[in-house]
Amino acid sequence: MIGSVNLLLLAAAVSAAVPSPAQMEGKTCTEFGCHADLQVKAVVHEPVARGMCQPCHAQAQENTHEFRLSFPKEALCQACHILTLKNHVHQPVQDGRCLDCHDPHQSEFHRLLRADPSKQLCLKCHAEDPFMKKKHLHGPVAMGACILCHDSHSSWKPKLLVAQGNDLCAVCHEDTMRRDQQARHLHPPVTGDCEQCHDPHSSDYPQQLREESRKLCVSCHEDVGQRIAASPIVHGAVTEKQQCQNCHAGHSSSLPTRRGTRVLDTCLGCHNEERPRPNGTRVANMAALLKENPNHHGPIRQADCSACHNPHASALPNLLTEAYPELFYAPFNADNYKLCFRCHRSDLVSAKDGQGVTEFRQGNLNLHYVHVSKPSKGRTCRACHAVHASKSPAHIAEVVPYGNWKYTIKFDATANGGTCAPACHAARTYDRTAAPPAAQPPAGAKPAQ
Ligand code: HEC
Ligand code: HEC
Ligand code: HEC
Ligand code: HEC
Ligand code: HEC
Ligand code: HEC
Ligand code: HEC
Ligand code: HEC
Ligand code: HEC
Ligand code: HEC
Ligand code: HEC
Ligand code: HEC
Ligand code: HEC
Repeated sequence: MIGSVNLLLLAAAVSAAVPSPAQMEGKTCTEFGCHADLQVKAVVHEPVARGMCQPCHAQAQENTHEFRLSFPKEALCQACHILTLKNHVHQPVQDGRCLDCHDPHQSEFHRLLRADPSKQLCLKCHAEDPFMKKKHLHGPVAMGACILCHDSHSSWKPKLLVAQGNDLCAVCHEDTMRRDQQARHLHPPVTGDCEQCHDPHSSDYPQQLREESRKLCVSCHEDVGQRIAASPIVHGAVTEKQQCQNCHAGHSSSLPTRRGTRVLDTCLGCHNEERPRPNGTRVANMAALLKENPNHHGPIRQADCSACHNPHASALPNLLTEAYPELFYAPFNADNYKLCFRCHRSDLVSAKDGQGVTEFRQGNLNLHYVHVSKPSKGRTCRACHAVHASKSPAHIAEVVPYGNWKYTIKFDATANGGTCAPACHAARTYDRTAAPPAAQPPAGAKPAQ
């Protein structure tokens, strides 16, 4: 372990006669009682333990108690210790400044170190390094246990590292790495270099991430970054708290790099209370809404909120993925309803003959067509349907917004149709088995205020 101690020199040094006062005859400097305190600590340097001072101290003048070092400080230790150094050498070792780290006589710490190498030793010189001043210090760095990653004398690896790349991290984070390997979905860069995302020493961001989450992630996911930068509406979830990590796991997950088990749980993690929009309006408490309205829309039953919402940013109100009219009335054009028609057939509205297309019929007359398919004031789906959940069948809304007003719709399903009691118009009933309604006026006259 100790390397090769130059025993010849040791022997020569011991035999070199040191002139001493008569009363010192036969005694070493420690036995004489003056320097016994150099042999009391837990670790005593072998020559000192043996009372051999001469190898390092030579009397400056005969019969005086003045000593000089036998060799220049920078060469003293190498007189006995031939260190086998590797190609990358630590500067103070290169400079022969052994005494900066080692006490020549004795120490409370192993290897005669001047301080605990797993706490203070390295910080004697490195405490001022810029990385020590950041907010979040990596566990071993905070302790000062630099030697867990760095060799103190020299190394075959650059930066005096004891191991390189992810092998270094694996020494302590095998559990995390094993968890990732076993996860259903692994974020591909995690199998690459850990230092792409983490600084081994410290960072101003939690988990020693190299950057604020959002910047770190979009440094690789440029498309997401561009979308966020280009969209007038950016989801608060991307900018608040842990940013991208609010919804995504950095390493692995049971879903494609996503936190939690289902998208819905991720969303309801925040939307379990009202949230203010930047413009001052408030976003509904979706968890409560879904709880109070047991009849959930298909994609919500599949826990897929991102079927309709872009979780990051959008040019459309409410972060919608596709067009959907914002107001009570809108001219009909299938393009304005792309959101619904991604999953529902558009002839649900556009076909006048509703047979085989929709259940919302008077006889064969498609009442969706009647209400919605108008060149100017077509009623939008929200005039009748709640998009997330409702208490009624067919997601008929209880309350419908009309300008600043709210209408209550009292919908009752019947065996062959349904009844819509006074709201937009006097109570009306539709019946799919009815004769063709040639003589009937179209349903849904202008709403009574
Ligand atoms: C391996 C070399 C070495 C040996 C052996 C050694 N010394 Fe030293 N000693 C030093 C060095 C180097 C210094 C100077 C320390 C400094 O400058 O920081 C020193 C300094 C001293 C000092 C000055 C005060 C102090 O503690 O720093 C005394 C006294 C001393 N030694 C006594 C002894 C005695 C007595 C022995 C024998 C029992 C002894 N030394 C053995 C290397 C050694
Ligand atoms: C006169 C010869 C000699 C000189 C000079 C010398 N040493 Fe040593 N050193 C030894 C011997 C002998 C041992 C014990 C070797 C062993 O345990 O195998 C030793 C052991 C050590 C150890 C291991 C201590 C332990 O208990 O683990 C360290 C560290 C050390 N020396 C550092 C130094 C430093 C630093 C200097 C210069 C200030 C120095 N030595 C100078 C002879 C010397
Ligand atoms: C930056 C601090 C530092 C400097 C400078 C330094 N050492 Fe060390 N040295 C250590 C540490 C820390 C250990 C203990 C390593 C371990 O236990 O893994 C050590 C261990 C040793 C040992 C025990 C055997 C071994 O190689 O591990 C010897 C001998 C030794 N050093 C001699 C020297 C000599 C001679 C010099 C000057 C040329 C020197 N050291 C410079 C920190 C230093
Ligand atoms: C006596 C002062 C001193 C002590 C104590 C010291 N270092 Fe250094 N260290 C330096 C100097 C000087 C440099 C070279 C200049 C620099 O890079 O800052 C350096 C550089 C380094 C480097 C960079 C090497 C490279 O190739 O860039 C590492 C890593 C390092 N030290 C680790 C340690 C560790 C680990 C300890 C504790 C065992 C330690 N240092 C203790 C003075 C010291
Ligand atoms: C978890 C492992 C780990 C710990 C603990 C650690 N380092 Fe490092 N250190 C590294 C790695 C990895 C590098 C190489 C980084 C690089 O090249 O970007 C490095 C590089 C360095 C460098 C060279 C910096 C440069 O810019 O060239 C210095 C100096 C350094 N470390 C000092 C220390 C000191 C001092 C401590 C203790 C306070 C310490 N390290 C603790 C892993 C660690
Ligand atoms: C010598 C052991 C050791 C090594 C090697 C090591 N770490 Fe750590 N790491 C720790 C300890 C201890 C903690 C603190 C644990 C805690 O707080 O729960 C930690 C925590 C972390 C954390 C989480 C910090 C937080 O705030 O929760 C990250 C990220 C991390 N390490 C990354 C790395 C990377 C990347 C590497 C390889 C460059 C690495 N570690 C190498 C010991 C180590
Ligand atoms: C793509 C970026 C990225 C890469 C590459 C990466 N991490 Fe992480 N790591 C993160 C993020 C982000 C977190 C924060 C936890 C979260 O949000 O899931 C984290 C957290 C951690 C943690 C603490 C919490 C935990 O999950 O255990 C450790 C330890 C860790 N990383 C170690 C590593 C190691 C070791 C590697 C290399 C094998 C690595 N990381 C590679 C981004 C990354
Ligand atoms: C070093 C580059 C890098 C960084 C940094 C990075 N990623 Fe990735 N990420 C990738 C690569 C490569 C893939 C796999 C290819 C792809 O799907 O784009 C991926 C895949 C993903 C996926 C899955 C995409 C899918 O289609 O299933 C998500 C989600 C993701 N990353 C989120 C993040 C988040 C959040 C962060 C920040 C914590 C992040 N990434 C940081 C490189 C990176
Ligand atoms: C509110 C939760 C949430 C936040 C915050 C979030 N994501 Fe996502 N992200 C998702 C969901 C859900 C998906 C899956 C979308 C889908 O199924 O189409 C996704 C998909 C992705 C994908 C793969 C598909 C794509 O759109 O390219 C990447 C890459 C991604 N996110 C990166 C990021 C980055 C980078 C951030 C931070 C700037 C971020 N995410 C913030 C929830 C979120
Ligand atoms: C079928 C498409 C669709 C699905 C699936 C969907 N949404 Fe929506 N969401 C919308 C539409 C459309 C709006 C616009 C408001 C409206 O027209 O009633 C909206 C509005 C919102 C709003 C704003 C509410 C307000 O008060 O302004 C939130 C929050 C929201 N959705 C969250 C969710 C969550 C969480 C999920 C998953 C549980 C989800 N959405 C699933 C279509 C959908
Ligand atoms: C980390 C918390 C958080 C998570 C997780 C979260 N949101 Fe949000 N969401 C917000 C905040 C804050 C707002 C209000 C600020 C704003 O308008 O963006 C908001 C607003 C919204 C809006 C209205 C946007 C607008 O401006 O009209 C919709 C829709 C929405 N979220 C859907 C979702 C969906 C879908 C998910 C799951 C993929 C989700 N949210 C997950 C925090 C969150
Ligand atoms: C991602 C696909 C998807 C999108 C987008 C979508 N829906 Fe649906 N919708 C479904 C599924 C799946 C069902 C359930 C069908 C079933 O249960 O047979 C459903 C059911 C319905 C029902 C009730 C059917 C019933 O008989 O109970 C209505 C009403 C409805 N959707 C309206 C809309 C409206 C309005 C939009 C546009 C704002 C829309 N949907 C967008 C997938 C979607
Ligand atoms: C005037 C009220 C009203 C409007 C406006 C309306 N619906 Fe309906 N919708 C109904 C009623 C009532 C039913 C239930 C029919 C039944 O089962 O008796 C229904 C049923 C549905 C169904 C279930 C399948 C079917 O056709 O029977 C879907 C899907 C649907 N609507 C989608 C939409 C979409 C998409 C829009 C907007 C483009 C829309 N609705 C506009 C009243 C309306």
